[in-house]
Amino acid sequence: MTDPNRRKFLEAAGSLATAASLTRKAHAADAPVGVALIGCGGMGTSHLKLLAKNPELKVVALSDVDSDRLAAAAQIVVEAGHAMPATHQDLRNVLDDKSVEAVWIATPDHWHAPAAILAARAGKHVYVEKPCSHNLREGRLMIEAARESGKVMQVGTQSRSTAHIIAAVERLKAGAIGDVLVAKAWNSQLRGNIGHASPGDPPPNLNFEAWLGPVPERPYQKNLLHSIWRFWYEFGVGDIGNDGVHDIDIARWGLGVQSHPSTVTAAGSKYFFDDDQQFPDTQYCIFEWPADGTVAHKRMLVYEQRDWSPYVQEGFENGNAFYGTRGMLILGKNGGWKLYGPRNKLIEEMSGGFDLAAHHQNFLDCIRSGNRPNADIEINHLSTSLCHLANIACRLGRVLHFEPAAEKVVGDDEADGMLRRTYREGHWAVPKGV
Ligand SMILES: NC(=O)c1ccc[n+]([C@@H]2O[C@H](COP(=O)([O-])OP(=O)(O)OC[C@H]3O[C@@H](n4cnc5c(N)ncnc54)[C@H](O)[C@@H]3O)[C@@H](O)[C@H]2O)c1
Repeated sequence: MTDPNRRKFLEAAGSLATAASLTRKAHAADAPVGVALIGCGGMGTSHLKLLAKNPELKVVALSDVDSDRLAAAAQIVVEAGHAMPATHQDLRNVLDDKSVEAVWIATPDHWHAPAAILAARAGKHVYVEKPCSHNLREGRLMIEAARESGKVMQVGTQSRSTAHIIAAVERLKAGAIGDVLVAKAWNSQLRGNIGHASPGDPPPNLNFEAWLGPVPERPYQKNLLHSIWRFWYEFGVGDIGNDGVHDIDIARWGLGVQSHPSTVTAAGSKYFFDDDQQFPDTQYCIFEWPADGTVAHKRMLVYEQRDWSPYVQEGFENGNAFYGTRGMLILGKNGGWKLYGPRNKLIEEMSGGFDLAAHHQNFLDCIRSGNRPNADIEINHLSTSLCHLANIACRLGRVLHFEPAAEKVVGDDEADGMLRRTYREGHWAVPKGV
């Protein structure tokens, strides 16, 4: 005999499923969302391959300052059976195009905030890659641009839309391991040596001036780009802002902290690589959230980075550990998780991998519903700020005392000044208010 409660549940679930599929059908019947990709490099190409096969949208324009990459990206769209998109070296042409409703920004980090702010203020919904900003101040200005324009601003931390990670955080929030007092994030993998190089001429396919954009002028050299710009202060946020920010974001999410930390302690530098990269290859960082007068509110996040490890930690090259008062959970964003109780008894496990398509879908759903996306700019600003603060603490070799509401380093003007950057004077992309 069918349990009447279960039958009611199934009926309710059935009608919910029907409503969901009707909604999806209504969306599919809508005109496709016109989108553009800005930055057609490694990650841009991964996005484009998904965008080109999504019937809910239409790739109408592409932008890159490297003509070879722009041509290769256009080819992907055409090979997927679509009309040739408009191609532009100057991203302002994308922002002027009325058929572009949303942009995917997969440029180097120094362009994220300038491009995202201009795009939102031009009336485009924005999907911008992580780390959301090159420096902390830019993140705040991105939030303001998103809120003032009323546009969706999703950041590319796809773990926020990935089923096994959502499930893990649900377990943590439900108290499956008690109070989670400490979380750890690690990035332990083997990176490449970028060598030493001298200034030279950029290749003919690259508009290096446009690549620099709002960054002060400097000569080209071949170990600045592509992709390896992330190891230079002027352009990236180091590996902590590259792979590390994914793990830090998951750690902060599972820890349940929704503000900046009050204390940042960090050590690290180059222990391994003899090359031109500027950020640490080895980094240990500790972030503490205050007690608010009660012991039970204290939380700690620990980040470890070793870019010279030809082995993994706890089974994952990038991972998280959540330490609770009744158990622990070990997670790999590309792998799965295991939840242990007292005396290391395995209680539950789940496998899974990053779901980029789900993150795209969440962005599109929010464009239509007006809801805040899973990795809303305000969420990622908090996670990316941890990377910025840790880098400053490492570079100065000092503990930072941070005032979360004012976004200020207290009692250290030099560190506080590093929450911002210097821009190229008068450049059109310099965000207002920096
Ligand atoms: N979410 C993820 O899992 C993930 C994975 C890898 C990279 N990323 C992020 O994606 C971004 C790109 O990384 P990448 O490895 O693809 O770098 P990349 O250097 O390969 O690509 C960047 C592209 O942007 C182009 N570009 C630079 N300035 C431009 C401008 N003003 N207008 C248009 N195009 C411009 C470059 O020519 C290049 O083709 C980074 O922010 C990175 O952190 C995210």
